[in-house]
Amino acid sequence: MQQQGRVYLDHAATTPPDPEVLDAMLPFLRGEGGAWHNPSSIYVEAQEARKAIDRARASIAGLIGANDPEEVVFTSGGSESDNLALRGVVAASTRRGRHVVTTGVEHHAVLDPLEQMEREGVAEVTVLPVERDGHVSPAAVADAVRADTVLVSVMHANNEVGAINDIAEVVRLVKAKNPRTVVHTDAVQSAAHLGVHVDRLGVDLMTFTAHKMYGPRGAGALYVRHGTPLQGQILGGGQERRIRAGTENTPAIVGFARAMEIAWDRREADVAHERTLQERLIEELPRRVPLLAITGPRNVEARLPGSVSGAVGYVEGESVLLALDLAGFAASSGSACTTGSVEPSHVLMAMGIPDDLARGSLRFSLGRMNTEEDVERLLEALPPIVQRLRALSPVPATEAPPSWAEWLG
Ligand SMILES: Cc1ncc(COP(=O)(O)O)c(C=O)c1O
Repeated sequence: MQQQGRVYLDHAATTPPDPEVLDAMLPFLRGEGGAWHNPSSIYVEAQEARKAIDRARASIAGLIGANDPEEVVFTSGGSESDNLALRGVVAASTRRGRHVVTTGVEHHAVLDPLEQMEREGVAEVTVLPVERDGHVSPAAVADAVRADTVLVSVMHANNEVGAINDIAEVVRLVKAKNPRTVVHTDAVQSAAHLGVHVDRLGVDLMTFTAHKMYGPRGAGALYVRHGTPLQGQILGGGQERRIRAGTENTPAIVGFARAMEIAWDRREADVAHERTLQERLIEELPRRVPLLAITGPRNVEARLPGSVSGAVGYVEGESVLLALDLAGFAASSGSACTTGSVEPSHVLMAMGIPDDLARGSLRFSLGRMNTEEDVERLLEALPPIVQRLRALSPVPATEAPPSWAEWLG
């Protein structure tokens, strides 16, 4: 899978397309006989493209347990689905209220539109704190729900620290308090790993993206339970039941469905493999690197399979990443969009991790192609890198400040 000698440990950022996914997509990209045509057109080739999209929609609907394929609305990916869910529900619910409940650890694709909607005066947003391991208390979510709460948005699993939320319980408690409140979950990170099912979770809206499950960039979906108030946000040609206009990206949609089918088929094996590697890193990293705190749940059952995150005292996460890159490892400090910024991650801040410790944050996200050897190589490579960087620092890394104690465990 890897370039010679390189180890890819950033599957939460994106995944390499599966060769079977590419095989499924190619006929729809190539001119020879493939239905690259506009699926809305009348002629026979266009009808082939339309049929391929219908098949993809039916397949995805079946996998996630939707009652009707029409409940699957194709989008360009996770960010668009999140924006559509938030803006779409609030715009369709103005007569009932404008209060929205979310959490401080959501992806920016949820937090930023909500912040903007608050500035515009179209929404009033309650952002809830989270537990110290990054998970959200369902009771706290329900407590925040009011008679005028039109939407709750809580992510299924966190992209930086891997904490899995009990979404079924969030839905149960929220609906008990206000049956008309719509519940959305962002399942971008969890879908393939946890094999999500919309009725078991009970949600009204769920966000998906193909490129986190070995599918192509540029395809995603919003699951929309029938009866959910939702106003389309991209208007034009009336595609996707007038919820999302734009000529459909047939090859990417076909690849998305194939990627999801493969992910569902392989899930047990993938999860077992990723949990084994993940457990080894979570156990061993704090032993090998002094003053390294595992962030997020330590118990792998409560974490997204393959997700490992930590904060290393007395170093900048970015410096460690650059050194790891030179040593052949592709990893991240958190979400790809915050890499490169000087601010510590909003997720670690919401969890209460001290600012100076959070600056040393690292994220390793393992995938189906990683091996035990990859993990052992990382365990060999990281300690001398941290030691070297600390030796260059003007601040001596002698002992941890008292504020770090509870995190270093
Ligand atoms: C939890 C979560 N939501 C949304 C997104 C955005 O998805 P996309 O890159 O498909 O727009 C990401 C991507 O990192 C994510 O991790």
